[in-house]
Amino acid sequence: MDKIRIIGGAPLKGVIPISGAKNAALPLMAACLLTDETLHLANVPYLADIVTMAKLLAQHGVALNTSGDGNRFGRMLSLNAAQVTNFTAPYELVRTMRASVLVLGPLLARFGQARVSLPGGCAIGTRPIDMHLKALQEMGAEIDLQEGYIDARISGRLKGAVIQFDKVSVGATENILMSASLAKGETVIRNAAREPEVCDLAHCLVAMGAKIDGIGSDEIAIQGVESLHGCPYTIIADRVETGSFAAAAAITGGDVELLGARAEHLQAVIATFAEAGIEISETPRGLRVRRANGRVQGVDIMTQPYPAFPPDMQAQMMALLSVAEGASMVTETIFENRFMHVPELTRMGARIVLHGASAMIRGVPQLRGAEVMATDLRASVSLAIAALAAEGETVIHRVYHLDRGYERLEEKLSQCGAQIERLPSGKPTLKSEAA
Ligand code: EPZ
Repeated sequence: MDKIRIIGGAPLKGVIPISGAKNAALPLMAACLLTDETLHLANVPYLADIVTMAKLLAQHGVALNTSGDGNRFGRMLSLNAAQVTNFTAPYELVRTMRASVLVLGPLLARFGQARVSLPGGCAIGTRPIDMHLKALQEMGAEIDLQEGYIDARISGRLKGAVIQFDKVSVGATENILMSASLAKGETVIRNAAREPEVCDLAHCLVAMGAKIDGIGSDEIAIQGVESLHGCPYTIIADRVETGSFAAAAAITGGDVELLGARAEHLQAVIATFAEAGIEISETPRGLRVRRANGRVQGVDIMTQPYPAFPPDMQAQMMALLSVAEGASMVTETIFENRFMHVPELTRMGARIVLHGASAMIRGVPQLRGAEVMATDLRASVSLAIAALAAEGETVIHRVYHLDRGYERLEEKLSQCGAQIERLPSGKPTLKSEAA
């Protein structure tokens, strides 16, 4: 397994291009199943999760074509589901990426059948899909659970229904948005997720001919149509990648411009950074991040559904707050096990104490490099952020977690002055030999 080696201390200076949003690209790719015409996606990030979703769709019979170099405007990805022959999403793919469950609604809506492996738990929590299944049943689907698979069927079309979600769920909102687009009659989703990635999916569905009102609000009305058509669609910039690089610039005392970043998708994060003494300002090309003056100040954070502070930025902020002046309290309200970066940050000298869903952080003047282990996507980038400011060398193990959600991370950071390199498994680099 590859590792990443970072020598800390260099302030990040320069420009970083932000890639297309992973969590928008995944549902958008699944949406191709809703039509027999071609969906042309632009600004597709090149990530392990995108490759997994492409493999999943290909084994359903979807024809995929990519183009573009991925450097400036991402990749173009064309998807055509005219020849879907297999309605099973197999365990070996679903267990590697939970977002695979997003093929369930589209397959059911267009073909009346789907057999999707239950995703199982993941590092950050049990992450059930009960809300997805209950909503589809309310739309008329028959759902059986057999041998770890969801068997979903309906004769004829799904029927519009009023869906009241007990809690905000990004995935469940996305699955119902897609299935309701082809259902008979009106579907109303109450307590819908409002994340920008959910809105991106809804906008693309409208471009495909869906009739959707209330996009961006917590109540969305969908008038089902007989069929949807293909279209071109450009994916929004990744707000979590933006926030991650903002934390990296802040912790190193740097000054970085994030190309393509959009302030309107990060209001809660920008406000939190400002409270911590980090200035994030809009430029004609994106966002500029720099530490206003002196040390980062401690702040209190509570993760909640959009537009509040996002859970996907919690680990990154904790790395930054580890070297803040004063104390910080970070409370995770969405997932039950999303503090696995804490013991690794502690190995680097951070002073963090966990109390249930809250972490109390007492800032230290500087972290020290160490060997650390990545455990999940956002935990792994928080270790990289900490390493960029730590004294000495850090080696991060199991970086396949990072590759799921960050495109060309080493390249983007080293172009801003970071001392970072990937150590392919089993092959020492000249630098480490010389050190
Ligand atoms: C999406 O996951 C994102 N993934 C996650 O990002 C993100 O952390 C999460 O939303 C919350 O914002 C993608 O978009 C691919 P949820 P999702 O359904 O849809 C509970 C990353 O790092 N729940 O909004 O799986 C669930 O257990 C990833 O990029 C149920 O109880 O999240 C959680 O406590 C990590 N029953 C809460 O709702 C259900 O049927 C929110 O989950 C569904 C969810």
